[in-house]
Amino acid sequence: MENLNKSMDKIVSLCKRRGFIFPSSEIYGGLANAWDFGPLGVEMNNNIKAEWWRMFVRNRSDIVGIDSSIIMNPKVWDASGHISGFSDPLVECGECHRRFRIDHLVGDEVWNKEKIEIEKLSEEKKVERVQELIQKCPDCKKEKTLSAPRNFNLMLKTFLGPVENSTTCAYLRPETAQGMFVDFKNICNSSRQTVPFGIAQIGKAFRNEITPGNYIFRTREFEMMEIEYFIKPPKNEEDWNKPFDEWMNLMRGWITHLGLNHNNINELDVPIEELAHYSKKTIDFEYNFPFGMKELYGLAYRTDFDLRNHEEHSKNNMKYRDNVTGEEYWPHVIEPTFGIGRTLLAVLSEAYHEDETRIVMKFPFWLSPVKVSILPLVKNNEEIVSKACELYERLKETFICEYDESGTIGKRYRRHDEIGTPFAITIDFDTLDGQGVTVRNRDTMAQERVSLDNIKEYLYKKLAE
Ligand code: GAP
Repeated sequence: MENLNKSMDKIVSLCKRRGFIFPSSEIYGGLANAWDFGPLGVEMNNNIKAEWWRMFVRNRSDIVGIDSSIIMNPKVWDASGHISGFSDPLVECGECHRRFRIDHLVGDEVWNKEKIEIEKLSEEKKVERVQELIQKCPDCKKEKTLSAPRNFNLMLKTFLGPVENSTTCAYLRPETAQGMFVDFKNICNSSRQTVPFGIAQIGKAFRNEITPGNYIFRTREFEMMEIEYFIKPPKNEEDWNKPFDEWMNLMRGWITHLGLNHNNINELDVPIEELAHYSKKTIDFEYNFPFGMKELYGLAYRTDFDLRNHEEHSKNNMKYRDNVTGEEYWPHVIEPTFGIGRTLLAVLSEAYHEDETRIVMKFPFWLSPVKVSILPLVKNNEEIVSKACELYERLKETFICEYDESGTIGKRYRRHDEIGTPFAITIDFDTLDGQGVTVRNRDTMAQERVSLDNIKEYLYKKLAE
């Protein structure tokens, strides 16, 4: 539970100071819970996305990628159940008019029992029951002011074209998944995939969250990486448990690859009452963030819910046809899903280390936004500076390098520790005498002399460790 001792404020401050994450629209006072990724944040997000795509799409012959529209035909969301079922229960204070998620106020366990009972009550009794459960408004503290719960849909609405009415209303997608279901037949018809196979997508999703917060943990605009993995309709539990378990292991592998300590991970078997409307089973991979154990990723068994509903609503045949047996069926779906903001936040939390002398971000090397810094010992010696520039030109095509000549060498080391640069190369007077350069290791701070002829190979080897 080491991460609880790490202060979120310190991580947020480092991210702003060094250019990982900035408050959005800051010059106008910001926008609550909206964040921009700075030069280093965008490099890290790109590293996460590229590695995920390499592992789950390029390296596998049974998964193909797509990039579908964010704004889709609104009928998609009717069929997927998001218009009727993608909502949170809210209560409103009659005094200050603030709204709160009742499940957050009373806790999931109590709410799961209460919601069924409350549903059966008259409006008046509903209010009474809510006010028994929560006596005071959490904000203005007035007693007996909370309303009966109302479901609030989380999809963000927009209007297409110049007229704003119900016929021009559209939604920003709340998940990337539906693009993959809607394109299912196009993929079957255009690629050579046979069941079992998967479709992957990386992209933005939008949710009008009632209680966003905890930095980039819960935002209204976020990026996700999802896979819909299609299997034959199971004849028994074992038939879907097996691929489900395989995906659990692949997700565990990805988590290890990110450098997250498994002691900081909890695999939560989501209780039936809390399952999303499409899911028969979900495992939430929770991470021990500095603000507590919270959902990082999800793995759901979506059955044939989506394809079946899209067939019913679109009147198109959404079945898969087995070209060998001639069988037609709706495949069932195992869905591993990964939030990118939460990945970055978990990685930042895990990597943050502080001691008496320095703050250091111990990112796995593949995730570091800069791999090598090139530091002339002094900036007023032409020969040293030109050797350093030459080296930078030579290495920058192979590694993400940064040339840095401002401030003392100590300050430059500290800056690169804070942005997690694995190796710092110093060019000094001995370099001019043909004695190579010093390479400083971020984690051990040990320094090694390496000849200029061997430096590329040395870095290749070390960065692959
Ligand atoms: N297609 C399944 C799906 O959308 P989800 O659990 O609602 O499942 C998937 O979301 C993942 O997206 C979560 O595990 C989390 O990593 C991320 N996520 C969800 N809501 C988010 C939000 N408001 N802000 C940031 N990330 C979010």
